[in-house]
Amino acid sequence: MTSAAAGGLGLGVGLTLDNVAGVCRGRLAGDEVLARVGYVNLGIRHDDIVPEELPGLLAECGWPVVVHAIDINLSTDLDPEQLAGLKRLGDALDARWYEEDLGVWVWQRMSLGLHHLPPLLTAESAERSAANVVRCRELLGRPFHVENPPVHYAEGELDMWQYLAAVAEAADCGIILDSGHLIGYHLNTDTPIELRAGWPGWPRVRELHISGFQLVDLGDRPTWIDQHPAALPAGQLDWVEQALRYAPPGVAACLEQDGASEAVVAASVTRVAELLAVAEPAPVTA
Ligand SMILES: [Fe+2]
Repeated sequence: MTSAAAGGLGLGVGLTLDNVAGVCRGRLAGDEVLARVGYVNLGIRHDDIVPEELPGLLAECGWPVVVHAIDINLSTDLDPEQLAGLKRLGDALDARWYEEDLGVWVWQRMSLGLHHLPPLLTAESAERSAANVVRCRELLGRPFHVENPPVHYAEGELDMWQYLAAVAEAADCGIILDSGHLIGYHLNTDTPIELRAGWPGWPRVRELHISGFQLVDLGDRPTWIDQHPAALPAGQLDWVEQALRYAPPGVAACLEQDGASEAVVAASVTRVAELLAVAEPAPVTA
């Protein structure tokens, strides 16, 4: 039984409005790699426009949509106008849920891009992020889950695992666990890469993100940077395999490999589909 058959979404791919229609057409034309995909994780800004044909194309593919919001400051101040725009888009796509990385992504009207800021890892900051998540859920009218962001430095008395669990508990929301971001968090904070057994956040995990990254030599130790199209290192898939054991049944797994070559995407899809199948073996029948 696959994750999709267990009532979950199964294997997803991270796409944007620039490429989603083309990928749908590839699926409808019989692409074998895309036939293993169960849903689309669509990156959307509040001022995007959903092409009229898109909901029909997605429905033809049988692909539900998760909306990955872009440039929402979950850890500082929300803009209700932007959330109203996101609501219209999520309604048009009948989004299963919304998600966004914690932290600060926009300074006034300017997107910070690679210079985004992680949240302060404090109890007070967790409360503030949680209050924002509750507000998002109310304004958007759909579930809203929080993701651990890319981290290049950390400040505060909590670590990322504790912070994520504290936000999700206070907001009563789900967690999106990004494998690349978490591995990067440990590398960039000089702490051992781990999957925390007994972590109180596990029951809330709704989706795992799998994206490439790069290590660059800056000074005396490697620095992690987000690099979605990079081929997945073997250790990352081991991490994902272990995380699938801790996460609840039906957890989704999304490949965020935007910009990757077809060969890299095909290899990742095949490998992660296998991991999902093993994580939820077929029940023994008489
Ligand atoms: Fe992610």
